[in-house]
Amino acid sequence: MQTDLRGRDLIGDLDFSKEEVETVLDVAWDLKRKRALGESHALLRDKVLAMLFFFSSTRTRGSFEAGMAQLGGHAAFIESRTTQISHGDTEKELGEIFGRYFDGIAIRHVDWGIGNRYQNMVAEASRVPVLNMQCEIYHPHQCLADIMTIIEKKGRDLRGKKMVVSWAYASSYLKPVSVPQSLILQMPRFGMDVVLAHPPEFKLMPDIMDQAKEQAKKFNTGFDVVDNMDEACKDADIIYAKSWGPLLTTQDPDEGKKIQDSYKDWITDDAKIALGKDDVIYMHPLPADREIEVTDSVIDGPHSVVFDEAENRMHSQKAVMALTMR
Ligand code: CP
Repeated sequence: MQTDLRGRDLIGDLDFSKEEVETVLDVAWDLKRKRALGESHALLRDKVLAMLFFFSSTRTRGSFEAGMAQLGGHAAFIESRTTQISHGDTEKELGEIFGRYFDGIAIRHVDWGIGNRYQNMVAEASRVPVLNMQCEIYHPHQCLADIMTIIEKKGRDLRGKKMVVSWAYASSYLKPVSVPQSLILQMPRFGMDVVLAHPPEFKLMPDIMDQAKEQAKKFNTGFDVVDNMDEACKDADIIYAKSWGPLLTTQDPDEGKKIQDSYKDWITDDAKIALGKDDVIYMHPLPADREIEVTDSVIDGPHSVVFDEAENRMHSQKAVMALTMR
């Protein structure tokens, strides 16, 4: 167990070592148990987290805000459009100034080619931890909740378990690639064999793919890429199927939508779930396009763990905050 995480940023999934992630998970379960028993756990009394959003959110905002209150502190909700950022506040100024007001700075900025750089520049100038609430490359706090949920459902020995990370069709908007990228980076560390499935136009970033292959090699796990959802789902222990935009092919929303619309059969339905093992679990970070990306019968059905997964956002983030902001 590595316990000295004070002052650390969490921007990319591999910023924390495997042992550090295990520490986060142990603390998360302790805090989850304390909350279930109604035991006070005000580990961050008088501390304040800035939550700076450049993009909308339901779960991330709610879970960070509730989590800080439960830890005895406060979270300040700040929307970029109501700040002076568009009038010239720079990343350096924000890091310097918010670093003096707050005890942690959490940022969601998913703009292509901008969000991750923005977070790193704020972190360089900040004296307090910067926590990534999602950028265009990573969604590390979603991924912590995901591994926590998988361990709760499948046990700590995940070696040999087949995890499918699949693209699924959505019509609402071109969603970031950050969730699948975080998953393929983090899950090999926990022994799972990852199968990534997507149509040809929905490739992930080459650098992330290289790192995922390296992780799989290091932890002696499988990592396969296929372009067929049915093939991927066969004998799966975990089906994590969500949409992302063809952003490596085009960033034009109209062109992207046209490409996306040619793969409407990539929906997680009962037939896909039936291809998995009898006790396969279905995961999704939400929001999902219901009856388009996933059927109601799956997302509300017996294999779905999406609400436990959403709940674990709060417990795992509380652990990160308690460890880094104390
Ligand atoms: N899963 C997730 O990040 O949800 P929100 O976009 O609602 O925060």
